[in-house]
Amino acid sequence: MFSFLASCGSGVGVMKGVVFTEFLEMVEDNFSPNIADQIVEASDLPSGGIYTAVGTYDHQEIVTLVQNLSAETNIGIDQLLHAFGKHLFGRFVEGYPAFFDGQQNAFQFLQSVEEYIHVEVKKLYPDAELPSIIASLEAPNHLKIVYRSDRNMGDLAHGLIEGCIKHFDEAIDIRRSYATVETGHQTEFDLRRAA
Ligand code: HEM
Repeated sequence: MFSFLASCGSGVGVMKGVVFTEFLEMVEDNFSPNIADQIVEASDLPSGGIYTAVGTYDHQEIVTLVQNLSAETNIGIDQLLHAFGKHLFGRFVEGYPAFFDGQQNAFQFLQSVEEYIHVEVKKLYPDAELPSIIASLEAPNHLKIVYRSDRNMGDLAHGLIEGCIKHFDEAIDIRRSYATVETGHQTEFDLRRAA
């Protein structure tokens, strides 16, 4: 938990409003509208907690919101980000159906994030600051994913990957390992599909 806070505390860059609107919606649905109001108030945000999906906000705001949600609920930041990632994937399925055209399974989808999905996201939102998600098929039932970003949101990536597996309804086991690299933070995920 501390490493996440320490590394994100410097407020690296900006983040799209869609992340904030979805986060607050997840808090309303999974906790309560009251808790959502409380954490916005406690966070004392430059934006005032008023977000539009296409707007761009200081990345530090999401860190502050997650910290305050953790304080309010006694649930760890890592767990909250993970749950948020799962929720977010479900919202992506609804919000961006075109990205799912012709995608038959989780491995295929996850291999398209770096070179197709995030590329299209960047066209839609030129100011988006996207992580690198390099997926390589090591064997027919073994996909390795390397997440790299200076935002260190590996827990969010983990939740998104789980949301993806749930969406395609597959039996895939995830193992995870970490590394700090010169270019920021790196988290590796080893996905093994039941043969
Ligand atoms: C339909 C699928 C997807 C869409 C539409 C999408 C879109 C986005 C958008 C709009 C952002 C915010 C960028 C910004 O704030 O500037 C983002 C960030 C992010 N995306 Fe995706 N994404 C998708 C799938 C995935 C998947 C499957 C992963 C999992 C590995 C992933 C990992 C991340 C992470 C971890 C971030 C946070 C920024 C960071 O870590 O640097 N995305 N994505």
